[in-house]
Amino acid sequence: MDAKLKELATLIKGRDAKVIFFVGAGISTNCGIPDFRSPKTGLYSNLQKLNLPFPEAVFDINYFKKNPKAFYTLAEEMYPGKYLPSKFHYFIRLCQEKNILKRCYTQNIDALERVAGVHEDFIVEAHGSFAKVHCIKCGTEMDSVTWKKLMKKGIPRCQKCGSYVKPDIVFFGESLPAKFFELWEKDRKDDFTVAIVAGTSLEVYPFAVLPAEISSRTTRVLMNREICADFEDCPRKSDLVMLADCDHTITKLVDLLGWHDDLEKLIQEGKKLIESPGTFALEDTTIKNEEKKVTKVEKTSKALAKKVAEAEKVVSSQKTDNSVDDLIKGIEKIEIKGKDAKK
Ligand code: OAD
Repeated sequence: MDAKLKELATLIKGRDAKVIFFVGAGISTNCGIPDFRSPKTGLYSNLQKLNLPFPEAVFDINYFKKNPKAFYTLAEEMYPGKYLPSKFHYFIRLCQEKNILKRCYTQNIDALERVAGVHEDFIVEAHGSFAKVHCIKCGTEMDSVTWKKLMKKGIPRCQKCGSYVKPDIVFFGESLPAKFFELWEKDRKDDFTVAIVAGTSLEVYPFAVLPAEISSRTTRVLMNREICADFEDCPRKSDLVMLADCDHTITKLVDLLGWHDDLEKLIQEGKKLIESPGTFALEDTTIKNEEKKVTKVEKTSKALAKKVAEAEKVVSSQKTDNSVDDLIKGIEKIEIKGKDAKK
């Protein structure tokens, strides 16, 4: 790993270096937020109390329409504001200060990149955020103060049409924000010095394909506890794979770069700022372009796709014209069948 880190440090220190990040829940585990798929500690291994047909149903739009309680049981816990950014988040910020940050694509809804002070022009929150709340039927926006108040009394409903409302987190079966597609269309054609992929299992699509689509002239770096996706299936000769805690890797990297004090300064300043009340109200950090949705590519996951394929078999044995709703019903059928079989 040390030789790889030295190679990475040389690249980052090089002339006109350009760094792009692709990150997931693993960069926030050191902040005390569980990731999703780590065995035992991940959120999806700890949802028994919600009685879900499958763990990802908690973020599935079709499931939410019928049973919003599961999501709302977690929503308050997940709402940003309780956690401090990790070393890794501050490293992204440090790249911004050094003028080498070109973009940070994040799957996280914890907004910790913004809390660490990364400018929103650099951030693509591919799976949305809690910053805004909308009615799932009529689209009316609800301000987050009202939403949080209503959440204390039960499941919040649209004050105009009475349907359920939810924050603009991208659920499975929903489109990603337009900003994601617009910027990726541009970034995928660009050459970067390094693309750092960190803290993600790359199980969720379309995000999972980004590292595979990055230009072959860009050196890809994986900072993760485990090997995943394209780094395993289609490795490139130039890939730098660093399997360890990502904060640990960053600590070593900044030492090699001679940036240790710069990073510590940012962390200490960040702490002070966050502790002063009201500084990081999520409501104030609106995300441009997010309301404009495209409908072509929906968020899906490998595990979910497998279930859909199973469901497809069930549904297609009964019908030829499969709608998504039919497929989802198929999923539930399979799960209920499984449960019944155990009785
Ligand atoms: P996952 O939970 O699928 O993957 C997290 C990855 O980070 C795993 O490979 C872990 O081994 C690794 N990891 C955890 N802690 C780490 C650490 N300290 N250092 C290095 N690696 C670490 O999370 P995501 O890939 O982000 O959708 O999941 C993608 C999407 O699935 C999420 O955005 C979420 C979920 O459904 C939502 O919209 C809420």
